[in-house]
Amino acid sequence: MTCTIVVGGQWGDEGKGKIISYICNKDNPYIVARGGVGPNAGHTVEVDGKNYGIRMVPTGFPNRDSILAIGAGVLVDPEVLLKEIEMLSDFNIKNRIVVDYNCGIIEEKHKEMDKSNSHLSKEIGSTGTGCGPANVDRAMRTLKLAKDIEVLKEYLGDVSNLVNETLEEGNKNIVIEGTQGTLLSLYYGSYPYVTSKDTTASSFAADVGVGPTKIDEVIVVFKSYPTRVGEGPFPTEMSLEEAERLNLVEYGTVTGRRRRIGYFDYNLAKRACRLNGATQMALTCLDKYDSECYGVTNYEDLSEKGKRFIKEIEERVGVPVTLISTGPELHQTIDLRKEYGIKDE
Ligand code: GTP
Ligand code: IMP
Ligand code: MG
Repeated sequence: MTCTIVVGGQWGDEGKGKIISYICNKDNPYIVARGGVGPNAGHTVEVDGKNYGIRMVPTGFPNRDSILAIGAGVLVDPEVLLKEIEMLSDFNIKNRIVVDYNCGIIEEKHKEMDKSNSHLSKEIGSTGTGCGPANVDRAMRTLKLAKDIEVLKEYLGDVSNLVNETLEEGNKNIVIEGTQGTLLSLYYGSYPYVTSKDTTASSFAADVGVGPTKIDEVIVVFKSYPTRVGEGPFPTEMSLEEAERLNLVEYGTVTGRRRRIGYFDYNLAKRACRLNGATQMALTCLDKYDSECYGVTNYEDLSEKGKRFIKEIEERVGVPVTLISTGPELHQTIDLRKEYGIKDE
């Protein structure tokens, strides 16, 4: 039995949705529990030729046997959540989603403030999803909680209890899903150009009510070419012309904004691994680094260029790269966890 946290190592959008959905299909966790800030996240999951942009439902949803839990630390926008439950009706979300009684609730006024406040919307470049203003109200202890909301009634439960009881049974896998990225952390990111709370593995464990001694694996996800949306420093950023030349231009899942793009930053990657206590790294978009790697599922079939890049990351960061993503689809993944002696069930 393994309790694994998946966390972003850069500024979010590293492809956590892809990695988490792969792990959930492979390891068959009993629970996928979502931590993180709230619906400011936009995870992309591509399965059976269909593309889903998900902001609230845990991205382990393609595995129909997993319970999908949202931890008490996560802000819930009922409108967004109910729409997603409807949109994913083929996956039978309704009968297996559990929203913690104590999740904070985002109301219209929070979204309005996030969009109209020029410090947030212009200087910081927030997502406008109401997360920052809702966390202000949570700190003021005036925020409504999920247990106060009639339309959420049928989904409510005690996520911490559920996860801890499962851990005590000792024979089931659990995945804790993080959102955003380490460098957007309110404490460890480039303040004030950060999100409204800490976004490291320890916080995600706390979000779902699990103590640090219960965590077996921390997988930190990195993109071959990191991206950042919104304002703030980006030491290895490349020009738009260069990004266009390399065919790397991307747009945000939530806001549709163009993502700023840069080269892999080994020093920041090392820092992110430390802050999260990483036991493994996952590397996504290797096909963007070298198109010959597209869709490859065996390590031996990677190009020399691709293999050299992975080795350099491992040597300079000091953590093994155990999962390699070679395309957006769930199955376009190289899984080296067994080779590294990491159990996956
Ligand atoms: P946040 O929780 O918002 O931080 O998002 P995320 O980490 O889940 O990432 P998001 O889905 O927003 O962005 C990643 C983008 O890269 C999506 O468009 C994915 O479909 C895509 N993607 C993920 N892995 C790969 C890959 O290996 N190759 C390619 N070409 N695209 C990938
Ligand atoms: P907020 O979290 O909406 O307040 O936004 C604060 C900063 O974090 C902005 O730069 C956003 O672009 C960034 N941000 C928040 N959530 C995500 C995410 O899930 N992916 C990428 N960037 C994010
Ligand atoms: Mg995203």
